[in-house]
Amino acid sequence: MKKIIILASGNGTNAQSIMDHFKEVDSVQVSLVLSNKPQAFVLERASKFGVPAMSFNRSAFAKAGTVETLLKAEMPDLLVLAGFLWKIPESLVKLFPNKIINIHPALLPNYGGKGMYGMNVHRAIIENKEQESGITIHYVNENYDEGAIIKQATCRISQNDTADDLAAKIHKLEQEHFAKTIEELLK
Ligand code: GAR
Repeated sequence: MKKIIILASGNGTNAQSIMDHFKEVDSVQVSLVLSNKPQAFVLERASKFGVPAMSFNRSAFAKAGTVETLLKAEMPDLLVLAGFLWKIPESLVKLFPNKIINIHPALLPNYGGKGMYGMNVHRAIIENKEQESGITIHYVNENYDEGAIIKQATCRISQNDTADDLAAKIHKLEQEHFAKTIEELLK
């Protein structure tokens, strides 16, 4: 049985679709959901699903903290960042080489980096009158949004699209591709 651990900071629609997807796959299990926010809705989603879920604070996430200890004990096959907004400590990147992936709501290398997350990304793209956006699923390295790209999918932006319209298009792409890409990676 392959094990996935999800890290998420917020609503958790991506975590939800990953849990939904792998419920139907015998060889893969979402074994744990972790969040840096005790109130994050993703924790409720996980509990409803029967997946263990817990939150942690800054010191637990630092080098040699309790999160590292927990992950070492669990040894997941893949750590999935699904709307997780803290930088991954270098020690974790080293501990899980090519086993940490992230989804970013734009076509990296554009619109990535510190502060570029969620609606900030969509607003910047609409302000710049881009005609296209998309999602990037990539490996995580020591720098924000710079690891090797695994998959991208694109969508068109219409002239009248608002940031909310773009967010909805991106959400659809995420639902369509994230879990499937994870399954491919675990084969
Ligand atoms: C997703 O759109 C994800 O791509 C984005 O946060 C959202 C989380 O939604 N991630 C980033 O911006 C990372 N830089 P969710 O909590 O409903 O899955």
